[in-house]
Amino acid sequence: MDFKEKYGPWALITGASSGIGEEFAKQLAQKGLNVVLVARRIDRLKRLAKEIENTFKVNAEVVQADLTKADFLTGIKKVTDGWEVGLLVSNAGMMYIGNYFENSIENELKMIDLNIKAPAILTHHFGQRMIKRKKGGIIYTASMLGFIGTPYSSAYAGTKAQEIVKAEGLAYELKSKGIDILVLNPGLTKTEMTANNDFSGMPMKLMTPDLVAKSAIDGIGKKTLVTPGFMNNMMNWMSKHLMSRKMNTKMFGGFMKKTF
Ligand SMILES: NC(=O)c1ccc[n+]([C@@H]2O[C@H](COP(=O)([O-])OP(=O)(O)OC[C@H]3O[C@@H](n4cnc5c(N)ncnc54)[C@H](OP(=O)(O)O)[C@@H]3O)[C@@H](O)[C@H]2O)c1
Repeated sequence: MDFKEKYGPWALITGASSGIGEEFAKQLAQKGLNVVLVARRIDRLKRLAKEIENTFKVNAEVVQADLTKADFLTGIKKVTDGWEVGLLVSNAGMMYIGNYFENSIENELKMIDLNIKAPAILTHHFGQRMIKRKKGGIIYTASMLGFIGTPYSSAYAGTKAQEIVKAEGLAYELKSKGIDILVLNPGLTKTEMTANNDFSGMPMKLMTPDLVAKSAIDGIGKKTLVTPGFMNNMMNWMSKHLMSRKMNTKMFGGFMKKTF
């Protein structure tokens, strides 16, 4: 089965209005998939949909949705019910960098809603349909920070760890059902998310979102965990083989302290 047959005819991408999600949308359209673009900034989504339709000659639909709201699935279902969504890219996310107790509990709960609850709702809804079709794929955008306790981003890293561990288990459950799941674990990437912090003290450079999205699209069906970039993979290897969890956390605490 080729990519389009296995993961098409529609892909749904959350957080498609900028950064890594926008790149997912363009590259999946380039592979011949129709795309449903989901985010809050509808003007950006409409502009991107037009660009995608003109460039790649596929269909692009938009859904304005705030994924932290309890009923967000209703709007998505209104557009996608009756369509075969063969690929779910659960990519939207938010991050907090700073002292844990200086973030409001409202903001932390919003992050849990967006980074954990929304992917759960979307996975359940679209995953069940994929199981009936006996094919499909799910991509989560997590983070390298999900591998380690990360001071000054403790709660964010925790939300990403949840996605990693959940997907590893699901990969096993879904294998016999013809569905692939992949967790993309980017390191620093040049997007709006990283625009307001100073990461110059970090050992790795910021990657561009096109290469980050490509690594997941190339990897689905072959791997469960993907970390893009040579330096990021070196870092993962060192963290795993040369350092204890405690040492990793201490090192990242030192890096993160200088970023805000
Ligand atoms: N940039 C990095 O260094 C980095 C590293 C590791 C992992 N990641 C992960 O990569 C993913 C994409 O982030 P990015 O770097 O591409 O940043 P980004 O450019 O800021 O994109 C974030 C996307 O999420 C959407 N979003 C945010 N809040 C939302 C909400 N309440 N409801 C619906 N959509 C919402 C945004 O759209 P609207 O504002 O239009 O809603 C936007 O499209 C995130 O999960 C992030 O945690 C990023």
